[in-house]
Amino acid sequence: MTTLSQRLQAARSGEVLPPAVPSAGVEAGAQTIHEPSVSAAESATATDVRLAEGLQVVKARAVETLFDRIGVRINDSSLTEEQLRLFVRAELSRIVDEEPLSLTTEERRRLIQDIEDDALGLGPLQRLLADPEVTEIMVNGWDRIYVERFGKLSPSGARFSSEEHLRRVIDRIVGRVGRRVDESSPLVDARLSDGSRINAIIPPLAVDGSSLTIRKFSDTPFGVSDLVGFGTMTKGIAELLHACVQARLNILVSGGTGTGKTTLLNVLSSFIPGDERIVTIEDAVELRLQQEHVVRLESRPANIEGRGEVSIRELVRNSLRMRPDRIVVGEVRGGESLDMLQAMNTGHDGSISTLHANSPRDAIARLETLVLMAGMELPVRAIREQVASAVDLIIQLTRMRDGSRRITAVTEVIGMENETVVLQDAFVFDYAAGLDVHGRFRGSQVSTGIRPRFTDKFEELGIKFNLDSLQQAGA
Ligand SMILES: Nc1ncnc2c1ncn2[C@@H]1O[C@H](COP(=O)(O)OP(=O)(O)O)[C@@H](O)[C@H]1O
Ligand SMILES: [Mg+2]
Repeated sequence: MTTLSQRLQAARSGEVLPPAVPSAGVEAGAQTIHEPSVSAAESATATDVRLAEGLQVVKARAVETLFDRIGVRINDSSLTEEQLRLFVRAELSRIVDEEPLSLTTEERRRLIQDIEDDALGLGPLQRLLADPEVTEIMVNGWDRIYVERFGKLSPSGARFSSEEHLRRVIDRIVGRVGRRVDESSPLVDARLSDGSRINAIIPPLAVDGSSLTIRKFSDTPFGVSDLVGFGTMTKGIAELLHACVQARLNILVSGGTGTGKTTLLNVLSSFIPGDERIVTIEDAVELRLQQEHVVRLESRPANIEGRGEVSIRELVRNSLRMRPDRIVVGEVRGGESLDMLQAMNTGHDGSISTLHANSPRDAIARLETLVLMAGMELPVRAIREQVASAVDLIIQLTRMRDGSRRITAVTEVIGMENETVVLQDAFVFDYAAGLDVHGRFRGSQVSTGIRPRFTDKFEELGIKFNLDSLQQAGA
């Protein structure tokens, strides 16, 4: 068996040694740490890789020792980031000095920095979080991390060193926001300090090991011109939606997960005139409105003892007492839908929200189901009437197979006919335009030729909008 010093020495001289066998002091979980990561293997020379391997073993042991010594204090949310960092750095210096090996000053510095990042930071996630092209990070297992770039998923090449390492990072992430994940509460939804949203789920619920999903919060949210640039909507549709918001239509943005609902909601909210009082209600603050007169409310999950929950529904009810001109609800997914519809029907028009559904018709059906979740024994017909009279417009978003997100329908809610809510598409996505040479959809939203009734409202309110030219542009 080789000692660490021998391995390091060998690595410096380029000699090949058999794989390191962890010494007794190293826990089983750290064994895999010496495997070079895919990206390192690609970018570095063989010597660099071996040097890195040798350092990895030292690193694994130092991390273990560090955790043995400082234990749970690492997740102590009463320590500031800076205090924790100083504390860990001091402890690490001591640990590295105890290692029987000679490191150059630079190696020592890098080693301590690496361990510090692993211990305090988010390990391999750090780099992905810092990469502005990465919009979503999906950890399917400690050795399988996928990322989304420009709407497309691909393996990241990064990996944790073990399930334990991954668990530590998860504990750290959720611990810092005052939550915890363990056998008794094996799934958690939380928001990082930078606004990114995370979901963690651990065994036994996650059968093949812990899983973590991070939806990154971009520094600057996409604005209307970005969405037009991406082909999500045409400039004409953007102008139409602007007019719809000004005209105080009640709007629902519908789409699947990650289709860009919240992003579009943010853009729609930006169309609200600056002199109106806006109350936003979200599970985790994502909206970033530029207006000044905004009150932001965020729901709160139950604490570790199961107390203190404040639901979206309670916030919606409360918002009605806050004299809002507009209520913007991040997403309706439960009983709050009833309160939202009632608000829309009782003078709080111009409200906007999103909902998870795959078509405008599906959105209506889903809304019905959500209202039933409010627990009021309402007959279905009554619910449909509420829906039909509350909602004016549904905007459907779809994530296409080319990775782009497009508005695939702008649909008006006309009213009731017998037992059904009548919908009328005003604009739909033109799939018939086919694909370009890069496999991207060429189409955009085209008019169905039907004049939406809400345009009457534009005239009443003196909102200038040239529907004819928009209808012709698409035709
Ligand atoms: N129109 C768009 N085109 C391309 N990417 C988008 C678009 N809208 C949103 N995104 C990106 O897609 C991801 C999910 O967006 P989000 O609005 O949070 O979706 P949802 O609320 O439907 O889950 C984010 O990373 C966001 O930056
Ligand atoms: Mg969303």
